[in-house]
Amino acid sequence: MSKLIDSYNRPIDYLRISVTDRCNLRCVYCMPADGIPLTESENILRYEELLRIATIAVRHGVTKIRLTGGEPLVRKGIVGFIEELAKLEGVEDLSLTTNGVLLKDFAASLKKAGLKRINVSLDSLKRDRFQKITRGDFLSQVLEGLEEAERIGLTPVKINCVVIKEFNDDEILDFALLTKTKPYHIRFIEYMPFEVEETWQKDKYISTSELMKIINSFQELIPLGNPEKRTGPAKRYRFKDGIGEIGLISPVSDHFCSSCNRLRLTADGKLRTCLFSDDEVDIKTALRSDCTDKELEDLLFNAVRKKPERHNINENIFKKCSRTMSFIGG
Ligand code: GTP
Ligand code: 5AD
Ligand code: SF4
Repeated sequence: MSKLIDSYNRPIDYLRISVTDRCNLRCVYCMPADGIPLTESENILRYEELLRIATIAVRHGVTKIRLTGGEPLVRKGIVGFIEELAKLEGVEDLSLTTNGVLLKDFAASLKKAGLKRINVSLDSLKRDRFQKITRGDFLSQVLEGLEEAERIGLTPVKINCVVIKEFNDDEILDFALLTKTKPYHIRFIEYMPFEVEETWQKDKYISTSELMKIINSFQELIPLGNPEKRTGPAKRYRFKDGIGEIGLISPVSDHFCSSCNRLRLTADGKLRTCLFSDDEVDIKTALRSDCTDKELEDLLFNAVRKKPERHNINENIFKKCSRTMSFIGG
């Protein structure tokens, strides 16, 4: 069976499916306080439709699937959908990115359904600041969710922390130190420009090299493997006495486009080949007009062929992306 390979010879084996644009939080860098206009439910792909696309993608080389949102755990039936995905032969890695609010209640059923691991977004360990960033008072629920995920074996538990100057940069060490007492993978992410986020300004972003200096001045980080030859977006490190890991994700200062293996499917049925390219391929229209699998395959291959070589968010103009993260799912 032919494999999905783009025009720059990158094998595409990682599908990120955004199952909903809804979310139970309103993070300041993602959504305005009163939310964004939501897609009408008839325009959101049904689980059977998502499964059909995933099946075809897996047939053509996708081995890794991640569910994202909005917040994937707010969509009804998510556990059953995961169960179906887990049955697909060829799926080696099945994971989910969540804000963690509902994780404690879901962890056991997610594991049972066949989910392998989770990534949790968490930008502050202080209750009042968590509330300010997410506009929700749920820090204790998220922390309990992390504990439960660890206990139940949705591991490694990864924590995504977007670092913003004068917002949460004074918590970098607190997060890093967590890896001494917990087996978590703490990943610091550079703040990227998205259109709705009027909060985004170049001077609010902290590069991972600045971040490295802060951590190293406290205690030297030991590189894991060869951090220059990463397999995912994160360069990985740990403390000598750490039980967890520290990952640095630098989409702005040092993009990882040359090794990008991702294809995204948005909740409203668009294939998106780059987080920052608005050049999407509509797949919903075909899906809903009785198309054959061959037609869907062609759309998939077409989208992959158009995958851009790289984004240019850190060039002279900081080009913003016109869809929100809640749509694309990171
Ligand atoms: P792992 O498989 O656990 O490494 O997950 P992941 O890093 O692929 O997924 P996750 O949803 O945790 O993504 C982490 C963050 O990296 C995202 O929230 C984005 O901020 C950033 N990111 C992920 N994919 C891309 C990408 O294709 N391009 C850019 N520029 N940033 C990305
Ligand atoms: N820059 C970097 N990461 C972001 N995320 C959301 N908005 C941004 C941004 N502007 C992250 C969230 C979550 C993931 C899905 O995307 O923190 O971990
Ligand atoms: Fe929801 Fe994630 Fe956006 Fe926060 S960043 S509002 S948790 S989709």
